[in-house]
Amino acid sequence: MLLRSLISREIAERGGWMSFARYMELALHEPRLGYYAGGAQQFGAGGDFVTAPELGTLFGRTLARELRKASPPRILELGAGSGKLAETLIEELGCEYLILETSAALRERQRARLGGRVSFLERLPQRFRGVVLANEVADALPVHVVAWTAQGILERGVRVENGAFGWQDRPATGELLKEAETIEVPVPYVSEIGLAARAWLRSLVESLEEGVILVIDYGFPRHEYYHPQRAAGTLMCHYRHRAHADPFERPGEQDITAHVDFSAMARAAREAGAQLLGCATQAQFLVNCGITEVLEQANAASALHYAPIAAQAQKLLSPAEMGELFKVLAVGRGAAPPLAGFSRGDRSHSL
Ligand SMILES: C[S@@+](CC[C@H](N)C(=O)[O-])C[C@H]1O[C@@H](n2cnc3c(N)ncnc32)[C@H](O)[C@@H]1O
Repeated sequence: MLLRSLISREIAERGGWMSFARYMELALHEPRLGYYAGGAQQFGAGGDFVTAPELGTLFGRTLARELRKASPPRILELGAGSGKLAETLIEELGCEYLILETSAALRERQRARLGGRVSFLERLPQRFRGVVLANEVADALPVHVVAWTAQGILERGVRVENGAFGWQDRPATGELLKEAETIEVPVPYVSEIGLAARAWLRSLVESLEEGVILVIDYGFPRHEYYHPQRAAGTLMCHYRHRAHADPFERPGEQDITAHVDFSAMARAAREAGAQLLGCATQAQFLVNCGITEVLEQANAASALHYAPIAAQAQKLLSPAEMGELFKVLAVGRGAAPPLAGFSRGDRSHSL
């Protein structure tokens, strides 16, 4: 069955209305038909977007400098995409590597690339000790869309009209309403609330007996997220390197994402029992971890290979590219050594 028909049928079964979070869940993750589940070539130059690990090995090699001290030397990566970051980290660290990936198609791709060097998990372990890594996973988790209006706080959902999906609002209720009421915005204002990302981080903290969780993604602290000038929210779709804001185009064929509210993530982690270890821009984090030393080594090894690596550095660090928009949030449990990535420019106090 086509994803479009499956979603339409579920909307009808629900009485003509579906929460946007449910729509996003189906559009991205429905087995075989969703964007991530369907085995499309999402990453890299031939796909819909490029992530930091897909640029080359510089991101992974720099991250490895931070993770080298991790004890025990064990990494659990969530949502490993093409397996590129895992490949770089295993080469650099030679550590035990676990992957939890919800997409069967991507799991196969990772297995083909990494073979017996990784173990695949079906669910979170009950008591994990080590480092949990999630690069660009939180932004793929379903968000609720909320409209703050003169008539009150509404939840934006999806209906079918003349065979096409469209928005339909109804009064927000329950946890969503409670959360929306804590956010101060000028009306009218539309934005997202990532309840699923918070629940996800809580479950990661609960399964962590000792160690660190690193969440790397694009997003802001709350006061920037719900800034008066961001009155249309952060929902974004990607199809073949074209970014646009219509989540109802090509369901299952395009990526749908929302920025991450890092204040809400930090709060969720703390409530679940974790300590906040740091939050920095990606540029600051990578510089603190020693990206310039990795670049120097590359230059010394081969001037010929330096130019492409310098181009990766530009993408990773430039404020106009990924340097400022992407943040690294670290939370942890137990006696973890201080993280070099937050030695300067730690902004966790502003969350
Ligand atoms: C935007 S891709 C990022 C891939 C990779 N981390 C990278 O940076 O290139 C999102 C990844 O998260 C996976 N994913 C989505 N939700 C997940 C979840 N709840 N648990 C684990 N993986 C998930 C997707 O299947 C995909 O592999």
